[in-house]
Amino acid sequence: MEGLAKTGGLADVGKALPLALKRRGHDVRIVLPHYQSIAEDVHTNRVIQTLGVPMGGTEIWCAVNQVMIEGIPVYFIEHHGYFFRERFYDDGFQEYGDNAARFGFFSKAVLQLCKALHFAPDILHCHDWQTAMLPYYHKVYEADHPLFQNSASIMTIHNAAFQGNFSGDFQGLLGIQPQHFVMEHFEDYGQINFLKGGISWADKTNAVSPGYADELLTPLGSHGLYEVFDRRKADLSGIVNGCDYQDWNPEIDPMIPANYSVEDLSGKQLCKQALQKRFYLPERPEVPLMGIVSRLTQQKGFGYLIPALYTIMQWEVQLVVLGTGETWIEQEFYNLARNFPDKVEWHGTYDWELSHWIEAGSDMFLMPSLYEPCGLNQLYSLRYGTLPVVRAVGGLRDTVENYDAKNISGTGFMFDEPTVEDVIDCISWAVKTYYDRPEHFQQLVRNAMGVQFEWDQSAIEYENMYEAALKKA
Ligand code: ADP
Ligand code: GLC
Repeated sequence: MEGLAKTGGLADVGKALPLALKRRGHDVRIVLPHYQSIAEDVHTNRVIQTLGVPMGGTEIWCAVNQVMIEGIPVYFIEHHGYFFRERFYDDGFQEYGDNAARFGFFSKAVLQLCKALHFAPDILHCHDWQTAMLPYYHKVYEADHPLFQNSASIMTIHNAAFQGNFSGDFQGLLGIQPQHFVMEHFEDYGQINFLKGGISWADKTNAVSPGYADELLTPLGSHGLYEVFDRRKADLSGIVNGCDYQDWNPEIDPMIPANYSVEDLSGKQLCKQALQKRFYLPERPEVPLMGIVSRLTQQKGFGYLIPALYTIMQWEVQLVVLGTGETWIEQEFYNLARNFPDKVEWHGTYDWELSHWIEAGSDMFLMPSLYEPCGLNQLYSLRYGTLPVVRAVGGLRDTVENYDAKNISGTGFMFDEPTVEDVIDCISWAVKTYYDRPEHFQQLVRNAMGVQFEWDQSAIEYENMYEAALKKA
C-alpha cells in the first residue's frame, strides 16, 4: 500500500481504491503483513496480543497492530519470523524458500482476525497471488461460520505472471485437501499454484483493465493459466484503475518546479528546463525530452527498447530514465548514458519526487511494455500533458488514444508489435510530429490533459462486481 509498502503500482491501488470506496460510504478495512520496513517507519497500536492461526495441524501465533490512515483502519499481522525481513518476497537473489507458508499463513490470519474482531465482511477482496489462498480458506474452511454466511470473495489480478508456484510439499501445511490438489484447482505441473487456486475459488475475478482481461482469455496472453481463466470466464471482468488526482495534478503538485494547467502551459516549460538541469543535460527547450519511470524488468519491454535507443539517440532528442531493477537493464542504461552523455541520463534510485519531475518536465513518456495489466504511469503522463508512447497492449490500449493526424485527435502514440523496428517507427513518428507539426502536438497535449480516469468511477464498477459476487455466493 502506497506510503507503507511499495514495489510497484499495486501499492497505489491498495490505497486509492479503499479511499474511493470509503468516500462512497463503505466500511473498508485493510490487512497487511507487518513488514520490517513498516515497523521502522510507522507507529502502530497493538490491538490483539495473540491471534492463533491453524496451520498444518498446529497453531501459529501472531499479534495484530493497527493504524488509522485517512479514516480507514489498517491492520498489520505481526509475525517476526515470517515478516521481519530485509525485503518482501526475496533476499535480493532468490525468493524466500518459505513464501508458501508466509502468505498461506497471512491469508488464514485475515479470516482469524475477522473472527477476533467479530467483523462480518460482505466482501473479502484479495489482490494477486499473495492473498490467493484466502478464497479457498473462505469457501472450504469457513463456509459454515456465522460471520461469513453472507460474504463473497473477489480476486483482483494486477499481474498474472506472478503466480506463487511452490513445491507440492507445502500441501499439508497449507491445508489443501487432496481432492483440491488437482488440475482444476491448485495443481500445476506437480506444484501448488496459488493464483490458479485463487481464480478457481473466488466468487468473481477481475483484471485491472478490460484489455488485460481479454488477453487472459487467450493462450498467449494468459501466462499459462488459459484453462482456468477460460473455465471461469463468466466470472471474469476487467476494471481499469483510476488515477489519484490528489497526488498527480500539475495544477497543485507541490513537488514540481512550477505548476501549470491546460489553459496556461508555461510552467511545463520551466519544469522541462529544471529537469534538464537536474539530469545534467543541455538546457535546450526546442529538443524533445523523453522520460521513463519504471521498474526495470523484462515486462516493460526493455529487451527491444534498448537496442532501438541506440538508433533513436542519433537524433536530436533527450532521454531521462528513473528506475531500478534487473542488473542487466541497469547496466544497459548506464552504458547508454556513457555513450550519449549529452542526451541520456539514468538515475538508479527509487524517488517519488523525481518521478513527479519527470512526468511534468518531459514531452513524451515511453512505455513499450510486453504486457501491461493496467499501467499507472501513462495515466500520470496524460494528466501532465506528457504524451505516452506505448505499445497497444492491456491497459495501455484501453487508456491511450492513438494520434490521428486527419482529425488532430488522440492522446499519444501507439504501436503493435514488440520489435525494435516498430518501436523505432513509433518514436520517430512522435518526434517528427513534435518538430514538424507543433500545433498538432500541442493539441494532443491538451487532449491528454483533459482525459480523466477517476477512482470514483472504478469504485462504482467494483461495487457492481461486489453485488454480483454476493448474489452468487
Ligand atoms: P508496475 O506496477 O507494473 O510497476 P505501474 O505503472 O502500474 O507499473 O506502476 C508503477 C508505479 O511505481 C508508479 O507509481 C511509478 O511512479 C512507480 N515507480 C516505479 N519505479 C519508480 C522509481 N524508480 N521511482 C519512483 N517511482 C517509481
Ligand atoms: C501491476 C501491473 C500494472 C498495474 C499495477 C496496478 O503491477 O504490472 O500494470 O498498473 O499492477 O494495478
